[in-house]
Amino acid sequence: MRKQIAAANWKMNLTYQQGEKLLDEILKAKTPLDFHQHVIFAVPFPYLIMANSEVANESNYSVAAQNCHHKKSGAFTGEVAPEMLYSIGIKYCIIGHSERREYFNETNAQLAEKIDLLLGQGIQPIFCCGEPLSIREAGSQNSYVETQLAESLFHLQPEQAEKLIIAYEPIWAIGTGKTASAEQAQEMHAHIRAVLKEKFGNDIADSISILYGGSVKGANAREIFNGEDVDGGLVGGASLVKEEFIAIMEALK
Ligand code: PGA
Repeated sequence: MRKQIAAANWKMNLTYQQGEKLLDEILKAKTPLDFHQHVIFAVPFPYLIMANSEVANESNYSVAAQNCHHKKSGAFTGEVAPEMLYSIGIKYCIIGHSERREYFNETNAQLAEKIDLLLGQGIQPIFCCGEPLSIREAGSQNSYVETQLAESLFHLQPEQAEKLIIAYEPIWAIGTGKTASAEQAQEMHAHIRAVLKEKFGNDIADSISILYGGSVKGANAREIFNGEDVDGGLVGGASLVKEEFIAIMEALK
């Protein structure tokens, strides 16, 4: 069975102490998880080592970075390279979040470079895609997302693609309290999987977890995750609240 994943994206929230307390409380709750159910905490860079040591003895929990730079190393003040993440034991990294694309002008081509560097370090990319409202209203969301996938991922070999996690996050649903309906989510996830099948073959595409993101909370997670091609969620706001995030973990299939 495909991995079902609840991924917390803390974004630029919480102090170190608040983050440590939240992790402690979530782990102490000992939410029952099956072997195929996984929880990933994407925390700010300065908290990665702490978070990794919090989950060190937990088989269903991992830590992710929220971003990395697209060059291997060098004179890029303030940036963090995939190799640095590897050197502190990080196994996952979010890339291409719509906030990075919008506020930091990240392009599909740069994301392709990030993917190559991450995979080269054995770090699994959590690749975000998703359309803005204007594209959804024009009914062009399928081709828009397909272009994002093609320009950042289609250069990969199938055995590299197998390491990907995809997060579909319609921009109009992020932090707005407005979720895509369960039908809209399933429809896009099925489309993404069909695109991956065409490019990388059925077996690889069937093994890739596709997460939904955009105003997921305890109250709507179960309905959204119910979609056949929806393998969990990438959660922003609700991941900062212990009870909410635990409810989302409990909603994993
Ligand atoms: P949200 O954010 O859950 O606050 O909408 C999701 C995300 O941006 O990953």
